Amino acid sequence: MLASKRILLVIAGGIAAYKCLELIRRLRERGAHVRVVMTKAAQQFVTPLSVGALSEDRVYTDLFDLTAEHEIGHIRLSREADLIVVAPATADLLAKMANGLCDDLASNVLLATDKPVLAAPAMNPRMWGHPATRRNVARLVADGIRFVGPNSGAMAERGEFGAGRMAEPMEILAAIEAQFEAAGEGRPLAGRRVVVTAGPTHEPIDPVRYIANRSSGKQGFAIAAALARAGATVTLVAGPVGLADPEGVTVIRVETAREMLAAVEGALPCDVAVMAAAVADWRVASEASEKIKKGPEGTPSLAFVENPDILATVGRHPTLRPKLVIGFAAETENLLANAQAKLAKKGADLIVANDVSPETGIMGGDRNTVRLVEASGVTDWPDMAKDEVAEKLVAVVVERV
Ligand code: C5P
Repeated sequence: MLASKRILLVIAGGIAAYKCLELIRRLRERGAHVRVVMTKAAQQFVTPLSVGALSEDRVYTDLFDLTAEHEIGHIRLSREADLIVVAPATADLLAKMANGLCDDLASNVLLATDKPVLAAPAMNPRMWGHPATRRNVARLVADGIRFVGPNSGAMAERGEFGAGRMAEPMEILAAIEAQFEAAGEGRPLAGRRVVVTAGPTHEPIDPVRYIANRSSGKQGFAIAAALARAGATVTLVAGPVGLADPEGVTVIRVETAREMLAAVEGALPCDVAVMAAAVADWRVASEASEKIKKGPEGTPSLAFVENPDILATVGRHPTLRPKLVIGFAAETENLLANAQAKLAKKGADLIVANDVSPETGIMGGDRNTVRLVEASGVTDWPDMAKDEVAEKLVAVVVERV
C-alpha cells in the first residue's frame, strides 16, 4: 500500500529522533519515497548523513539554503508529498504549528502544505500534560492534524514516567498506512469528520481522590474504530480507561467533564457526533488543594455543582451543530421514557438506550442490548457484541449523512 507513496518526514529535536532511522528503513522497505526535513535541534540527536543514507535522498535542513531553494523551494517541498509525518513532534514544534509560526524550514513547510499531516509527539509527560500543550493539540486536531501516540512508559530522563514516549516506528507505520487507507475511495464515510466521546470522567475531590463511574469505554472505542474503518476521520475524546488507541483514530485523553467538553468543542466542526461517554453529572463544588485529612471536625461533606452537558452543548450548538448527533442513555429504570425525554432535551437525533442494571453485565462487559430511540420510533436490537453494535450503528450513520 505504501509503494510509490511520497512521505515527507519532519524530524524535530528530541531524543526519540533516533527511532526515525528505523521508521525510514521500514518505509523504504515498503517502497515509499522518503524525503526528510530536519530542524537544527534534530541534528543534535541524529546526523543528516545517517538520515540521508537511509532515505537515499538529500536531507533538507536550511530555509535559506539557496541551492535547495533553487532546486525545489520550500513550498514545492511541502506539496510534493502525499503525507507529511512529524516525528518526533516536540512541544515546541506543536506550539508553532498550532499558532502558525514559521521561523525555520520545518515550520515553513508545515504552514505551507496542503497535504495531510500526521504527528508523533514525544516529550516529557509534564510537558505533554501542560494546559498549553493540551490547547495546542486540541487546536491541531480541530485543524485536521492526526496524531499517533504518545505512549506511556519510562522516559529518557531518569525516574520520569508517564505519557510522552514517541510511538514506536511500527506503530507510526501502521498509522501512516491507516491514513492512506482512510483516504481510500469507496469507503462510505471517506471525507466525513466525526467526534466520539467514550469512558467515564474523573471529577477530583482533592489531589488524590476523585468521583468516577463504572463505564469501561468499550462501546465508544468500538464505535470510533468502526467509524474509522468506514473511512471517517475520527476524533475520540476518551475519559480515563485502560484501552489502547483504536487504529487510525485520533485519541484525546481527558479526565474531567470540563476537559472533555473543551476537547469536543475543539473537534468541531464535524459531520457526526456520537456521545457515548458516561460523563459525571456533577463535580465537587470546590476541589481541595491539599489532601483532606481525618480530624476532629468529623467526616467531611461534599457539595456538588452540575457539570456542563456535552451532548446538549453539541446538539443545541447555534452554529456548529453536526448533521447527525447521537447520544446514549444508560438507565437502570424507565429506559424508554428517559431516552425519549433525552432526545428532546439534548437536541439529539438518535439515542442509543441500554439498561445498565448490574444484573445485565453491560457496564464493563463485552455485550450490549440496545434500543434505538428516535422521534419517528423505536428499534430494538437483539443482544450482541459491542463490536457488532458499533458496526450496525455505523451502518445507520452511513444512511443518515
Ligand atoms: O443525562 P444522561 O447523562 O443520562 O445522558 C446521557 C447522554 O448524554 C450520553 O450520550 C452522554 O454521553 C451525554 N452526556 C454528556 N454530558 C453530560 C452528561 C451526559 O454529553 N454532562
